[in-house]
Amino acid sequence: MTSALFSPIKLADLALDNRIVVSPMCQYSADDGSATDWHLGHLAMLANSGASLLVVEATHVERRGRITHGCLGLYSDDNEAALARVVAHCRRVGTAKLGIQLAHAGRKASSQRPWEGGLGLKREDDPWETIAPSAIAFGNEWSAPRAMARDDMERVRDAFVASAKRALRLGFDAIELHMAHGYLLHSFMSPISNHRTDEYGGAAGARLRFPLEVARAVRAVLPRSLPLGARITGSDWTEGGLTPDDAVALAKTLKEAGLDYVCVSSGGITADVMRGGTGLDGRQRVQRIPLGPGYQVPFAEKVRREAGIATRAVGLIATAQQAEAIVAEGKADMIALARAMLDDPRWGWHAAQALAGEVKRPPQYARAAPKLWPGAAYRA
Ligand SMILES: Cc1cc2nc3c(=O)[nH]c(=O)nc-3n(C[C@H](O)[C@H](O)[C@H](O)COP(=O)(O)O)c2cc1C
Repeated sequence: MTSALFSPIKLADLALDNRIVVSPMCQYSADDGSATDWHLGHLAMLANSGASLLVVEATHVERRGRITHGCLGLYSDDNEAALARVVAHCRRVGTAKLGIQLAHAGRKASSQRPWEGGLGLKREDDPWETIAPSAIAFGNEWSAPRAMARDDMERVRDAFVASAKRALRLGFDAIELHMAHGYLLHSFMSPISNHRTDEYGGAAGARLRFPLEVARAVRAVLPRSLPLGARITGSDWTEGGLTPDDAVALAKTLKEAGLDYVCVSSGGITADVMRGGTGLDGRQRVQRIPLGPGYQVPFAEKVRREAGIATRAVGLIATAQQAEAIVAEGKADMIALARAMLDDPRWGWHAAQALAGEVKRPPQYARAAPKLWPGAAYRA
């Protein structure tokens, strides 16, 4: 029986050999937004994981839109030149197609790297002013952002467009907008973080207006052949937050706007994770996330079924059999893996072995192909 995970798929005109995607993963190792030698090694490693698509980490469209001082950006010529070096290296040595996630951290910007604590930057850490739909802090350890005026929104929209043009110039095969995890675009959509009283707040359609303006503006500068996707939220996991039905409505709207796929993630809208707490709005709030294998897959399945857009599932997918079943049972079109790929950067090769699939390997490593093992002559 042929493997569903190792069957090809097309997104716009991009042909992918299999359904395995390396999920975007911040490395907090950039220098004023510019990729460093760390990215060279890290991304080249993952470009040979057997995944057909490697999505570069959240890459911020404005300097103040970075999560941390170490986050990647694409807001300057220096950023573009540094990333060009990494892309060229990955093309030379790797087999995966390359995508990039464009992001703005909004009220979650100006934070410490995870290994420095992951909280808002302290006064001595060179913090910066953050912007968001409303002046509500992400949590008690973060400063309140400034509520965005119309010209802030125009600037951020134009910054997304400018970064998308840079990504296009760099030759990326796919572009993905970060609309999840509590960052700026998600924070416009969620009633938890958007308390605006103008035409960008209130009803669901109004909260969606700004993210949609960004998506449309980016789509308008990309050739139709290039896939544009978005990472969206399946649930805010909190009372009064976004639900799976909101994810379906968003996916339908993005499809109409010309997006080619969505990746359904969840959570991250508030700092009150897994613990009771009084939110800054004075309400008792808690994010209850039932973590377990494939815990976000039901969201992807619902979005795929009801919105009819190519859908990627992510979150605690670790084994080849689990990934195969999700695709074979029609719950998602693609699978993204993050931590499992860091743990086993040849995850795709090993999955191919388990599922009798084929993966591309660089010629230097061709002799690692298991089918060559039995009785194969070893000649150096
Ligand atoms: C080190 C690390 C960095 C991450 N950075 C990003 C990111 O830049 N953008 C994003 O959308 N998700 C990011 N995530 C979330 C992952 O892409 C993924 O959705 C999440 O880890 C769940 O998948 P997993 O169980 O396979 O790890 C990150 C996760 C990790 C572990």
